[in-house]
Amino acid sequence: MSYPYQIKSFEQYQEAYKQSVNDPGKFWGDIAEHFTWRKKWDKVLDWNFTQPKIEWFAGGKLNITENCLDRHLATLSDKPAIIWESNNPEEKTRIVTYERLHKRVCQFAQVLKNNGVKKGDRVCIYMGMIPELAYAVLACARIGAIHSVIFGGFSAQSIADRLDDAKAEFIVTCDGAYRGGKDIPLKSVIDDALIGNKVVKRVIVYTRTRTPVSMLKGRDVWWEDEMTKVTDTLPVEEFGKAEEMDAEDPLFVLYTSGSTGKPKGVVHTCAGYMVWTNYTFVNVFQYQPGQVHFCTADIGWITGHSYIIYGPLSAGATSLMFEGIPTWPDAGRFWDIVQKYKVNILYTAPTAIRSLMGFGEEPLQGKDLSSLQVLGTVGEPINEEAWHWYDEHIGKKNCPVVDTWWQTETGGVLISNLAGVTPAKPSWATLPLPGVQPVLVDEKGQEVTEKDEDGYYKGNLCLKAPWPGILRTTYGDHERCRTNYFATYENLYFTGDGALRDEQGFYRITGRVDDVLNVSGHRIGTAEVENAINMHAGVVESAVVGYPHDIKGQGIYAYVIYSGKPDVDDLAKKDILATVSRIIGPIAKPDKVQFVSGLPKTRSGKIMRRILRKIAEGETGSLGDTSTLLDPAVVEEIRNGRL
Ligand code: WT7
Repeated sequence: MSYPYQIKSFEQYQEAYKQSVNDPGKFWGDIAEHFTWRKKWDKVLDWNFTQPKIEWFAGGKLNITENCLDRHLATLSDKPAIIWESNNPEEKTRIVTYERLHKRVCQFAQVLKNNGVKKGDRVCIYMGMIPELAYAVLACARIGAIHSVIFGGFSAQSIADRLDDAKAEFIVTCDGAYRGGKDIPLKSVIDDALIGNKVVKRVIVYTRTRTPVSMLKGRDVWWEDEMTKVTDTLPVEEFGKAEEMDAEDPLFVLYTSGSTGKPKGVVHTCAGYMVWTNYTFVNVFQYQPGQVHFCTADIGWITGHSYIIYGPLSAGATSLMFEGIPTWPDAGRFWDIVQKYKVNILYTAPTAIRSLMGFGEEPLQGKDLSSLQVLGTVGEPINEEAWHWYDEHIGKKNCPVVDTWWQTETGGVLISNLAGVTPAKPSWATLPLPGVQPVLVDEKGQEVTEKDEDGYYKGNLCLKAPWPGILRTTYGDHERCRTNYFATYENLYFTGDGALRDEQGFYRITGRVDDVLNVSGHRIGTAEVENAINMHAGVVESAVVGYPHDIKGQGIYAYVIYSGKPDVDDLAKKDILATVSRIIGPIAKPDKVQFVSGLPKTRSGKIMRRILRKIAEGETGSLGDTSTLLDPAVVEEIRNGRL
């Protein structure tokens, strides 16, 4: 594969950027020519942000898996598409060539069909990080079923809510998953999620951990049994066929938290998402054929969708997939993997870097990291200390570091330097990619035109126009999509992030400006955590805010009014954590729970989170204006009890 649209110099970047803004139709039309289409599009772009209506490559027909698999078979059939490293360092590597991947995807696509899955049906995938997860995702795409991958850290209740919202009739799961020293009983969690569910018709179960599982007759089937049926019973020309999809047919739904209590199903469509993940993969990481790309995210998050599966595979790349975690069996795990597979590109999260930084240089001793050429980060703002540690100790000051800012809703990277091509600036995401038009606005939606006292433009980050990877809707509720992203400011997509811009036009993302937390790069809505805490029998009311956490970026601080006896505080706290774990999942457990007698509220009953946030952050001085509070005395009581 060659990438004629790969930007090779700063001048080329500037030129591409200018063209993408002046004539997006021509710019993206030219790039789309480099993909495989059953039929070319009628119109490159049609949009308005009021409805919103966004269509890329309308009238075009394609299947994304023909772009990720079939088109590579002539040249890359025996090249590794996926290299899989087990959680267990002793277990054998699995190398899945493009030919093998194509075959397995076609086979599993037929398994899905045999089990009644049709184009447009929603298939929930709840699996660990094994190649079969990639097969399942791509098999859905192959037959036009809409995949909805749920991260293994979500609880039965969260799964039930998502199944319900997506009206999913099919589930693909495993008996269990290995993660570090733990075995997670995935099938058993699914069984709990399905209590009372009358919609799900079929659960396909892959064996990974050999954990005993209950298999319900008529509903649950084994992956292995279903796979053996396929090759025998079907003519090859039948079971290899990909469904012809419209450019704007949905490809997948991925649930993500917002400022309300209920996660939203972000919908991405086939053609735009394909072009965007491919274009950003090739340009941000400056991928060269033959390189090994290691994205450490889980496929349960958008980073895994875009930069383990669709971006790399559509580019004919080799994507390394790791089942485990960075600190097990020891903190040298990533470095062992880099050495073992001669990894060229490493893409990870600031929280992982900070956590590994905490182990010092010992885990790096004797590890050969000389294969590394590009380093990347994603998920949250990276502090300068972590940036420099990554650059010096991992990249040996020889690898460009790309700080990639984007969101589940954006499909792929929007603001980032291009490795070695455009300049880096520690803790700055820097410049927008071609097609991305950021603007900073004030509370009223006016563009910020004055610098602050530090010489930066500072405001809420919005985008003026659509790029091919932008979300199209939120599943089953288009109005929710409009109010969430397109209604805060007229004719703008609002990201929910605050940002600074410097003289050169570089952007620095400062974090969320809404009630959304970013804990270890995972998005968690404060309202969602509050709802979960409030489910606990002894809880009267609660308020959740974020506070700076050395490793996680943000920690979760919960203020709770509790009706139980004060001498059982410690147990009550544990009960509350268990409740949150059960309702959302262990990832949403508060780091701190402070019991309080009241919460600071305005006369109209609104909780003053600003004050609670300041207390959680350890503010010892003024908390701002508290005169509008119903009971100002409660504030000092809360501050005195701070944990
Ligand atoms: C939020 C999106 C995009 C994949 C992983 C997270 C924050 C993401 C950066 C970055 C500063 C970042 C933002 C954004 N974020 N990347 N490089 N610098 N902040 O996806 O769960 O949709 O979260 O993560 O706050 O809005 P997500």
